[in-house]
Amino acid sequence: MKKAALVVGARPQFIKIAPLIIEMGRFFETILIHTGQHYDIVMSDNIFKELRLPRPDYHLSSGQGSPGKQTGRMIEGLETVFDFEKPDFTVVVGDTNSTLAGAIASAKLRIPIVHLEAGVRSKDKFLPEQVNRVVTDSISDLFLCPDSIAVDNLKSEGKTEKVFNTGDIIYDCLRMHQKKILSRPANPSGLPEKYVLATLHRADAVDNELNFESILRSLGTSPHTVVFPIHPRSRKMIKGYSLESRLPDNILICDPVGYIDLLSLITSAEYIVTDSGGVQRESAFLGKPVIIARNETEWRELENAGSIFVKGYDFNLSGQVFAYAADGEILKHITRPSAVEMVNIINSEI
Ligand code: UD1
Ligand code: UDP
Repeated sequence: MKKAALVVGARPQFIKIAPLIIEMGRFFETILIHTGQHYDIVMSDNIFKELRLPRPDYHLSSGQGSPGKQTGRMIEGLETVFDFEKPDFTVVVGDTNSTLAGAIASAKLRIPIVHLEAGVRSKDKFLPEQVNRVVTDSISDLFLCPDSIAVDNLKSEGKTEKVFNTGDIIYDCLRMHQKKILSRPANPSGLPEKYVLATLHRADAVDNELNFESILRSLGTSPHTVVFPIHPRSRKMIKGYSLESRLPDNILICDPVGYIDLLSLITSAEYIVTDSGGVQRESAFLGKPVIIARNETEWRELENAGSIFVKGYDFNLSGQVFAYAADGEILKHITRPSAVEMVNIINSEI
């Protein structure tokens, strides 16, 4: 049996591997490595428990610090693990610093790399996630793309070998847990009948006082309560910029919620305002209109389908009706079971 090293570190990666790791068991011995990028209980341990993920075989505790320090510590820790475990290949997921570290540590030891969510691109060369994606794809060996735009992006960069459109793993995870979604969210409790859900954490949005304040002010234009399960980075920046006193009254901040709670919150919301890659896709798949508080979305197939509206950092929600009008034909190509196919491809191509 071939040995796979599966590298994760951030909340969205824990969620994305839930369907994958089950399928990997069919062909591979899988060593699960948690870089420790996310370390709060609500961002990591609780998600592992809720999604019944196996305990990581290694935990590298390399979370805090500047991006360079964090990534450097991860590469160092991963190198030690890879040296000892000698995996036949590595699977890295998405576009975080843990993805980048997994790819670099593997390439230095000549271990083949599988990139799940390959080919996703933004227009901004310096977006942290874009740097991670481009470098990771430049040294990967097998490319599992979530949609046809990602395949085309790789093609335009000269990559056509071992490139597969496998669909979106976020959809698989959603399908796996769909039966547990509640029609009224339990957490946070006591929500009004009509509310808006907001999640924000991108560096461009929350590490920039003007942008963050502008988004919060925009949320304040909604006639509805805005439920905002807050990412630790954003909580830190609200404090750092003393934005508490400038928070509109209709914003209800709470701790990050569990995965099922988040899906339940999406299901009953009027619409969603987010900068999250995962939340915008889940919302679109669950039939809810999504406002993107950024200047672009990487998920252009969903935007083309009509369920995502890019609004930037300054928008007006008063009197606005956002209708979900996604084109089922376009959605059909993205929303298909992908984990089984991904693992079959890994087994035959690596
Ligand atoms: C990272 C990813 C981003 C992804 C997001 C998912 C990179 C460059 N960015 O952003 O693509 O969308 O995860 O949530 O990898 N913090 C805590 N506790 C935690 C985690 C973070 O307090 O459990 C705070 C720390 O102050 C930390 C800051 O948040 O310095 C930023 O965390 P980091 O993991 O560097 O980036 P994210 O914003 O989480
Ligand atoms: N999520 C969650 N609780 C929350 C907010 C988000 O479980 O309070 C889940 C969400 O359902 C999605 C994932 O976290 O599956 C998205 O992660 P995040 O927004 O942190 O990162 P991104 O997708 O932007 O990389």
